[in-house]
Amino acid sequence: MSSWWRDAVIYQVYIRSFADGNGDGVGDVAGLRSRLPYLAALGVDALWLNPWYASPQVDAGYDVSDYRRVDPLFGTLPDAQGLIADAHEHGLRLILDIVPNHTSDQHAWFQEALASAPDSAARARYHFRAGRGVDGSQPPTDWPSIFGGPAWTRTVDPDGKPGDWYLHLFAPEQPDLNWTNAEVRREFEDILRFWLDMGVDGFRIDVAHGLTKDPAFPDLASREAGGMLDAALDDHPYFDRDETLAIYEDWRRIADSYEGERVFVAEAWVADASRVARYLTPARLHTAFNFGLLGCPWDATALRAEIDATLGVLAAAGAPATWVLSNHDVIRHATRYGRRSHTSLADAKRLYGTPVDHALGERRARAAVQLINALPGGTYVYQGEELGLPEVEDLPPSVWQDPNRHYADHAGPVRDGCRVPLPWSGGTPPFGFSPEGATAPPWLPQPAEWKERTAATQEQDAHSTLSHYRALLRTRREWLGRGLGDGAPLEWIEAPAGVLAFRRGEVVCYANLSDAPVKLPAGHRVLIASEAVEAADGALLPVDASVWLVAE
Ligand code: GLC
Repeated sequence: MSSWWRDAVIYQVYIRSFADGNGDGVGDVAGLRSRLPYLAALGVDALWLNPWYASPQVDAGYDVSDYRRVDPLFGTLPDAQGLIADAHEHGLRLILDIVPNHTSDQHAWFQEALASAPDSAARARYHFRAGRGVDGSQPPTDWPSIFGGPAWTRTVDPDGKPGDWYLHLFAPEQPDLNWTNAEVRREFEDILRFWLDMGVDGFRIDVAHGLTKDPAFPDLASREAGGMLDAALDDHPYFDRDETLAIYEDWRRIADSYEGERVFVAEAWVADASRVARYLTPARLHTAFNFGLLGCPWDATALRAEIDATLGVLAAAGAPATWVLSNHDVIRHATRYGRRSHTSLADAKRLYGTPVDHALGERRARAAVQLINALPGGTYVYQGEELGLPEVEDLPPSVWQDPNRHYADHAGPVRDGCRVPLPWSGGTPPFGFSPEGATAPPWLPQPAEWKERTAATQEQDAHSTLSHYRALLRTRREWLGRGLGDGAPLEWIEAPAGVLAFRRGEVVCYANLSDAPVKLPAGHRVLIASEAVEAADGALLPVDASVWLVAE
């Protein structure tokens, strides 16, 4: 039997927006526990939770002040233990999000560093450096923060004089750790064990490509840099460096020392699939997100090229693919695909706020999810995509929370639009997100139109996107080992331009991205389709739809 993680469907729980158990307007562990039956019924295999550790929440929990505590906003350590047990009881594995590139500036280590001398051991855990120019008033390098502005902030010495600068690839409240420091490495190994001992099934590694930096601290100068997707270059001073890979060899030994196949998934925004593959050897990490589809427009040629490139290099590495259409950092794919001719992530950023055909976007999103679930490997579901949720592009600036809001023109749109709390039931906000009698509204406002999109409404409708996801994942499970999942190789079938057609074992998948209906092969029956398809022999697959077939 194939290892569970080689073809798992993993549901991303953005915990602050999933379900609010205590009525403070922010999702929490209690809310998530109460909704585990929903997730089990959806048919996913595992949950990945965004960070729940103690945090000042400057970057929604990606600024951790204590890695061994749960933030009171979300619950307590006993709540976390209860969740792990309940999830397992529901047949769901649980993956946490580990944030090793940086801590919060409120972490005890960073506070100690600020209070210590320039050459102290406390400062050696981070990257403190003298500035350049007269009186060190210029940052040590020209590196930009991914959220905008410089990646360095100057400190004030205990005597009140301007001091050294510290590195933060993200917000100033997220100082980068120094991964050549033995204490840093030991500490994180210990944190991994802390949670593995508690029974978690693995970790998503935040900014997995960023941990080590060029010790010479060269300028980027003419290099392109900055955005999450631009970590593209050989010998980049802080992204995708060879030394980072050795860290994961130590981590893998730890995971392997536990029973029950504990796993890692790397968030590595690197140039292409061949660079992703470097993280995935039997001695390093198990999987990494394949983000290639985020950059693809709704175009058969582009999708096929990305699929082939990914499968080619990962097969050589012996690693499974993990297909991703959305997450908490990017514009939801129902919206990307709803922009008629420009539908890649970059296009969606450029066209942010321009008109979207939501019906078209949702239809294509269903076709896309059916396509990726037929591909070799595993898939991710970002919470709410099973409800066909669009990006909320008209949040008023007064409610923005993303730390990149201060630099919106640098980093593109704020990421709050994909983080709006889920609509569960009812006709008005909070749509069941918070319990009856809640004391606070949801932390981001939900659009009134979401009354049409609640889970409760969609459960009653056999043709809803939620019903399609449930049927799709049920069918996928039935056909694991007979073609789908990690099993059979993908064989392309000849098809008209704009149509992706392939066979996996007994299962045949067609996705019609052309502008005309396409004739399906005779002698097959329909397992499931993203839109109504006649059962008749030689039936037509409509535009922007996918179908799975098996021979009669
Ligand atoms: C990752 C997270 C993102 C966060 C950043 C800094 O890219 O997905 O949400 O802001 O790391 O930790």
